[in-house]
Amino acid sequence: MTPDLSSKIQLHSFPDSDELAQALAKAVANDLRAAIETRGAASLALSGGNTPKRFMQSLSTQSLAWGKVAVTLVDERWVPETSARSNAALVRAHLLQGAAATANFLPLYRALPAPEAALADLERDLAALPMPFDAVVLGMGDDGHTASFFPGGDHLAEALDPTTAARVLPMRAPNAGEPRITLTLPPILAARRLYLQIEGAGKRAVLERALSGEGDGASYPIRTVLQYVDIPVAVYWRP
Ligand code: 6PG
Repeated sequence: MTPDLSSKIQLHSFPDSDELAQALAKAVANDLRAAIETRGAASLALSGGNTPKRFMQSLSTQSLAWGKVAVTLVDERWVPETSARSNAALVRAHLLQGAAATANFLPLYRALPAPEAALADLERDLAALPMPFDAVVLGMGDDGHTASFFPGGDHLAEALDPTTAARVLPMRAPNAGEPRITLTLPPILAARRLYLQIEGAGKRAVLERALSGEGDGASYPIRTVLQYVDIPVAVYWRP
């Protein structure tokens, strides 16, 4: 029987995007402050796409020692920062502003023709961040993908392998647009705090289907994250 994964999430519901963004920013800022207090440094991995803009803006106004915070992405489209599709450009425009501009940002795109050519550099640069991540904020697509774990992705099985030694992998998939680079499952699972930001009834329904066990990890990759995670995933949702 397929296990019901409902116990793997803690649902936080908000009336609108602004309240959600503020609450999520406060929670993540608290994680970062606690990390700085305990270990002297903090690390954060963020998702791109459209949903996290307000959250990033709100996070940028949180008072904390930004110079001690390392920020990177959960995944990136293989485009330069001049592209409107660049997640790094999104982080620069919405998070790395004001005091938050002093955060140490590690983009995942390199000016190389394909993500494969950047893997060794990215592995080295990620290994230099304070690990595990103090907080990881995931998003989710209507197809159940999270990070760049796309159904039909060419490296999906390896990226979702909880024992893979790779921290990053390239991904190409029918719904992904351009080639991608993505963190693999292990660094996401190792996070001290794991958040999932989803907005709208459609995404909630996708999450419910994944939680109840409809389909497998290949068709609902978010399901694999929930299957293997040891800590409750804080789901921040608004209708
Ligand atoms: C990306 C992502 C991706 C994203 C979802 C949701 O670069 O596309 O990081 O995993 O979180 O696709 O995207 P939206 O917020 O745009 O719906």
